Amino acid sequence: MSAQGSVSGGGEADGPVSGRLTRTVALVGLMGVGKSTVGRKLAEQLGAPFVDSDEEIERAAGLSVEEIFDRLGEPEFRRGERRVIERLVNGPPIVLATGGGAYMDPETRALLKEKATTVWLRADLETIWKRVSRRDTRPLLKKDNPKQVLAELNAARAPVYAEADIVVDSGDGPSTIAVKAIREALGVA
Ligand code: S3P
Repeated sequence: MSAQGSVSGGGEADGPVSGRLTRTVALVGLMGVGKSTVGRKLAEQLGAPFVDSDEEIERAAGLSVEEIFDRLGEPEFRRGERRVIERLVNGPPIVLATGGGAYMDPETRALLKEKATTVWLRADLETIWKRVSRRDTRPLLKKDNPKQVLAELNAARAPVYAEADIVVDSGDGPSTIAVKAIREALGVA
């Protein structure tokens, strides 16, 4: 676990830490772990822009993620995701919430490892299931047994997410707990 070089300067106890980010912080992890909620709060506290890669892909394609999967297929979605993330990590530092499958793509993963400090937001399966079952817009879970699919994705992906620079648990409690843990790991607590 190392966040070396991700930020500059020391941290005050609380309040915004404006302009400190010298390297993009990319949140990775399974759908429903809270990457967007945690990322948005973290960005706010660090005075950095927040970008959600799914939203950027939707904007670029003029289609929802669901529509891209339906009409163009997952491989095309992954190509778009790779292009969007490449553009973002080559720009000024941001807090980036990536889609759950982004870090599984070897090229996207290599880009993120090279250009960003990666944070695996980890949660247990029950917590994730509780969150994802509130919304039915995720194309990968539109199956007969979505909980089983989620469990399989979790098992297959966890060892890859574990390659992230920082691992933070995102429990059932408020997202501010994970935000604080990330700031501590980054050295801006
Ligand atoms: C996906 C996760 C989704 C979205 C797409 C595929 C995945 O993002 O990119 O449905 O492969 O796990 P979230 O993790 O933001 O739900």
